[in-house]
Amino acid sequence: MNNKKQRLFTGIQPTGSLHIGNYLGAILPAVNRQDEYDSFLCVVDLHSITKPYEPKDLRDQIKGVVLDYIAGGIDPDKSTLFIQSHVPQHCELMWLLNTITPVGELQRMIQYKEFKERFKEPQGGILNYPILMAADVLLYKGEAVPVGDDQTQHIELMRDLAKKFNRMFGDTFPIPKNTIQNPLRIMSMHDPDKKMSKSLGPKSYIAISDNPDTIRKKIMSAVTGTDIAMTAGTKNLFTLLEQVAPKDTYNHMYEKFENKDLQYSELKAVLADYMVEFVKPIQEKRAELENNLDYIASILAEGSERARKIASETIEEVKQKMGLM
Ligand code: AMP
Ligand code: TRP
Repeated sequence: MNNKKQRLFTGIQPTGSLHIGNYLGAILPAVNRQDEYDSFLCVVDLHSITKPYEPKDLRDQIKGVVLDYIAGGIDPDKSTLFIQSHVPQHCELMWLLNTITPVGELQRMIQYKEFKERFKEPQGGILNYPILMAADVLLYKGEAVPVGDDQTQHIELMRDLAKKFNRMFGDTFPIPKNTIQNPLRIMSMHDPDKKMSKSLGPKSYIAISDNPDTIRKKIMSAVTGTDIAMTAGTKNLFTLLEQVAPKDTYNHMYEKFENKDLQYSELKAVLADYMVEFVKPIQEKRAELENNLDYIASILAEGSERARKIASETIEEVKQKMGLM
């Protein structure tokens, strides 16, 4: 691996089946940048336990994300794939950064505010969540962080913490940024004013693992409007079409739409066909990997070893600068 390359870091929480929003918003951009960057792809299990979860399901969900990454095109020979809790330095750096983070900044995070509304008394983990996310990236001196649009505020905080640390203790961290120029925001099929999300239930999302029938049903019943118009739902269908269909097909459909010569049923049927084809190779690769779990275990062992080595160097440098050694 060429060490002169900038580092890329992104994380996905093991909270159930991966949907097309996660895939297009976070995994595919990382897949497309594997040659350009020294890439770190992390299953952020310590983040996922800040929300209500079933301990007995967690192992399988973690394994599921690893399979999704590889089936989705992450090449373990090019990228470092690992599990966050296997590298204890994430928590160590989090504590150190915690000491320079203003509580007010954490309380301003949309995610925190949403939790406060839902659960009345949120736990400390959800408040400190963005510090752990900053530690994830800074531990590897990551510069490129491909994430969806919902993470913008967290990236801002990460940048502020890196700058503040550098100011207080001397130049240490490069300032990371989201490398996706127009971060995608795929909306719910069922409720297109909301972001596609696992928490909105299976009707809202197209899972990478959905079978062709389910995909067709979800797309054909997507909420749009009655007469063809650029509603939030229509816009979402076009966004998806642009991602999964060839450019000419997209252009052709868009022209028909502009000429008011397009029916929703046609747009949806075309999108459904391309979506089914889009997920098919990912599903096939995933099924293959399911039968080869030793291979997965060896990839993770190698990944966390490489991650730990870099992480411990950063921690040593940080502690020294903070006067701790
Ligand atoms: P999460 O499932 O919350 O761990 O999200 C994993 C990654 O997928 C993050 O980079 C998110 O920004 C991205 N993501 C999640 N939902 C969407 C969506 N509906 N559209 C685009 N990107 C998304
Ligand atoms: N908070 C991110 C999300 O919900 C996941 C995440 C954790 C992450 N650590 C990260 C993303 C570091 C990018 C970089 O999607």
